[in-house]
Amino acid sequence: MKRHQILIASLTMMFLMGHVHVHAQPSVTIHADQPTVTLSPYLYGLFFEDINFGADGGLYAELIQNRSFEYYPVRGEMNQEGYKLTPMTAWEKIYRDGGTADIIVTRTLPLNEVNLNNLEINVTGRQGYAGVANTGYDGIPLTAGENYHFSIYARMQARERALQQEHRLVVALEDEDGTVLDKTGFDPIPEGWTPFRAVLKPSASTGNGRLVILAEGEGKFQIDMVSLFPQNTYKQRENGLRRDMVEALVALNPSFLRFPGGCILHGWGIDNVYHWKETVGEVSGRKPNWNRWGYHQTYGLGYYEYFLLCEDLGATPLPVIPVGVSCSFTHLEAVPIAEMGPVVQDALDLVEFANGPPESRWGKVRAEMGHPESFGLKYVCLGNEEDDTPEFRERIPLFVKAFKETYPEIKLIGTSGLSPRVPLYELMDELQVWSSDEHYYMQPRWFIENQDRFDRWDRSRPKVFVGEYASEGNRLFNALAEAVYLTGVERNGDVVEMTAYAPLFARYGHTQWTRANLIWFDDQMVVKTPNYYVQQLFAKNKGDVYLKNHTEKWPGKEVAISTTYDKATGELIIKAVNASETDYNIAFRVEGAGRVAKKGTGWILQGERDAFNSRETPYAVQPAETTVITGRRFNLNTPGLSLQVIRIAL
Ligand code: AHR
Repeated sequence: MKRHQILIASLTMMFLMGHVHVHAQPSVTIHADQPTVTLSPYLYGLFFEDINFGADGGLYAELIQNRSFEYYPVRGEMNQEGYKLTPMTAWEKIYRDGGTADIIVTRTLPLNEVNLNNLEINVTGRQGYAGVANTGYDGIPLTAGENYHFSIYARMQARERALQQEHRLVVALEDEDGTVLDKTGFDPIPEGWTPFRAVLKPSASTGNGRLVILAEGEGKFQIDMVSLFPQNTYKQRENGLRRDMVEALVALNPSFLRFPGGCILHGWGIDNVYHWKETVGEVSGRKPNWNRWGYHQTYGLGYYEYFLLCEDLGATPLPVIPVGVSCSFTHLEAVPIAEMGPVVQDALDLVEFANGPPESRWGKVRAEMGHPESFGLKYVCLGNEEDDTPEFRERIPLFVKAFKETYPEIKLIGTSGLSPRVPLYELMDELQVWSSDEHYYMQPRWFIENQDRFDRWDRSRPKVFVGEYASEGNRLFNALAEAVYLTGVERNGDVVEMTAYAPLFARYGHTQWTRANLIWFDDQMVVKTPNYYVQQLFAKNKGDVYLKNHTEKWPGKEVAISTTYDKATGELIIKAVNASETDYNIAFRVEGAGRVAKKGTGWILQGERDAFNSRETPYAVQPAETTVITGRRFNLNTPGLSLQVIRIAL
């Protein structure tokens, strides 16, 4: 036998023995005239929590760390980086040109009743300068020629014998070698606390800059609320947010924002609970709190700023309110039942802060902060990821009742508890909340296996908010497993009203949640994960109704599709996920449509199973635009490890 005859003979033998698999072609028939369910306009949104330095040291654009000297060891412990936080964290003492001073953190004459600590620089000599430098989070990033807004509160008492001497505060931006990039000075400094401001413009860029504050002239200087913001925040807002990070959120097209947590919401014990009232009003008057994730919250990014962010994103606000219990998985404490009245009232007052007229007590606070118009709050989430404890069962009904009586127009989102078993869903059903928030962090295989979770859901029960989920990794396969799951969510768009990946942000080198986060960042860059692109492709191509489809010869659960229709554009949207390693050519048939365009356009996200994005290769995995030949019948090649979204005009 010749060589090619031997080859054919052995292939025939292998085929007969079952060693070669020839795939039957999978097919999908789409019934364009048979919508099944309407998809919620709020299906894809965001969950933001100050974890992994997501707020302070992240989204909140303040460049000074520990700006009011209020840090202390969190629970008396070392932090993750192996040192204890102190009032001098991120600050170092500096003496120049023979300057001498005693530099201590003091509570003498505090700035106000919540901002108790301040820094005293007691200059003891006539020569030189003494003061402090702040190193920000990982060094202060400065860009040449950009404006930076510096502000400080200061007061000073000159020593009797030095009254004639010059007394000044000198403020400089320096690079890591001490080269001055810009500087300014303030004098005279009065005896009472006085705010000072200046704009600094560095002459060179550095990723590792610092802010230096030096006192000159014998006497006792006190400083507090030392702040430095880039002018270039998102929308150039004062006390604003990091532009690149907000832009990454805008690009996700989020329909809602759930905030401020997460575990920081119900905190580590009742004293650590997040009180929205402590986060509004003048920034220097916001009482800081330690963060259950091991660091500190300035609350400079507080409820007002969260509502503004929602407006900027075009996202409906979903504030989460603690319900008189702290996190029962870590440290359960409960407000005594007899003292629950004011706690429930605090929750109700939030609606007045968001929506009330400027004449109302809390509407006035909002108006004075610069927003007389209502923020249009429509939903309130009660509790984070709660445990089924008697304490919780006793307190949650108090909130449900009070909201239903006072604000019946507000839709209440309860908590189903942790894990896909949704231990509290039953209770939420009894309480008749609008929807209930379920959380799960599972392996990718779980998301693939459970894509039909909602197919047989009891439609008479509260709607579902998948408020936190992730498949424990930021590699392409994780993202595709989540995409498979989302096809099931779209198919059940009448049950699942909202979904949000979690956590949202993680600062490189400062993570408490290491397994998976949607967006990674450092001082200067943002890295979008494959999971981010899945969220983006789904959110930007949701569609309004799900179209009935029928599959045949389907290769298995790793391949999944969703078929929706976008009424505004008149397009059929096909999402085809292939989380397997095998390429499949899928035969599509579109029935019940007047016309079907001959060409579809869209995006494809594909790569190696373990591909991921990093600071070194931030775009290793990202969607590429694609064009597909379509029509009433067409074949779509779905490569192994890919997600395709195709829009076809009908
Ligand atoms: O997203 C991280 C944490 O996961 C949240 O704080 C909490 O709600 C959940 O356990």
